[in-house]
Amino acid sequence: MRATDVIMKKRGSILNPKGEKLSREEIAFLIENYVKGEIPDYQVSAWLMAVYFNGMTFEETADLTDIMLHSGDVIDLSDMKGPFVDKHSTGGVGDKISLPLAPIVASCGVKVPMMSGRALGHTGGTLDKLESIEGYNVQLESDVFKKYITECGFAMTGQTKKVVPADRLLYALRDVTGTVESIPLITASILSKKIAEGSEALVFDVKYGSGAFMKNEQEAIKLADSLVKTTQAMGRKASALITNMNTPLGFKTGNFLEIEETLDVLEGKGPEDVTELTYQLGSLMLINGGKASTKNEGIELCKNAVQSGKAMELFLKNVDMQGGNSKKLLSERNVRRSSHVRKLKAEKDGFIKIDAYKCGLAGIHLGVGRNKTDEKVFADSGFIQQKIEGDFVKKGDVIMEVFGKDEDCFDSAMPILSDSISYSESEITKKDLILKEIL
Ligand code: URA
Repeated sequence: MRATDVIMKKRGSILNPKGEKLSREEIAFLIENYVKGEIPDYQVSAWLMAVYFNGMTFEETADLTDIMLHSGDVIDLSDMKGPFVDKHSTGGVGDKISLPLAPIVASCGVKVPMMSGRALGHTGGTLDKLESIEGYNVQLESDVFKKYITECGFAMTGQTKKVVPADRLLYALRDVTGTVESIPLITASILSKKIAEGSEALVFDVKYGSGAFMKNEQEAIKLADSLVKTTQAMGRKASALITNMNTPLGFKTGNFLEIEETLDVLEGKGPEDVTELTYQLGSLMLINGGKASTKNEGIELCKNAVQSGKAMELFLKNVDMQGGNSKKLLSERNVRRSSHVRKLKAEKDGFIKIDAYKCGLAGIHLGVGRNKTDEKVFADSGFIQQKIEGDFVKKGDVIMEVFGKDEDCFDSAMPILSDSISYSESEITKKDLILKEIL
């Protein structure tokens, strides 16, 4: 087999501009030899561009995912009692859903092996939020990860370099060849990493809007459909919600601030949007894990896990298990704050909109997020919204309390935050939090 022939088959010709479906052997030949260093970047770049234009069938995408998945370590949970279900979010601003979700779902008898990522660009990362809890360890060896899942029902860790090395190579190449925005390539990239963690079923939160990876509703629906169908083609259960990420989720955005909001949700006192999304996703996880048969039943189970205090108990147990100190965490709640503070006040009267993307960008300046993977983030940076999208404000009202990593960061962060607010004389019709469900 020659790489050139595989590229040309996908590329097609003037008479056959859509190209042809590749066999599993052809995809494996390309990916496996690329990872070994035997096929050069320029040939894989050409193939990526052919896929970008001509797409892939669900079967090809499932084959690509499976081949990428087996390029590195795969966690084997077959010696443990399941069911194992995880959630993947395409990322956003103030998106702390994984944190209350895992203990809620685990309290209902579904195990959650959660491998998460770090903040990058304007979006936050679960691992950075967890590390804002002093001592919390997100680098678990796989035997420790498995032990914690058995003992606590869930565990949270980062991916090691040995998980899906093919994705690291391919993603870097996509980034510089204009081929990131391809639905099958995004699908294989996300799924290979998620399936490597050992879950039997997956629930996706695919976000659309200014603060999301997919800016537009139709693109988000396409990605969700591809994620669900490809996961199903790989013999696993899957479902997805397409959700609004035009404005930050909840009141608090920032690493430790989002841990605080997690505690609020686990006490049944969380913001409406975060609570709603947590229960909706939780319910789908319970259905996929065989613990609920309807959406309403799943939501009731999630609510009971909160009301009984069981979910909070599990969250705090996990904090202690993974090296944090739950007593210290509770004593720092609503008290631990950066000493660098500003207030963002309304510039005029009106109904406000708050743009998620701009808030996320301001977050990078404040120290919540990072531009490059090796940059440091700050645990206590972020902002607390006194007002949310749709609220009416009078000139001078405080919209947000803003916490920075130092005094200088406000010079760049505050103008971006001001710019994230738009004012309208008439009431704003808020878009629904959940646009669509794919089962
Ligand atoms: N997230 C991923 O993990 N991969 C992509 O290709 C896009 C978003």
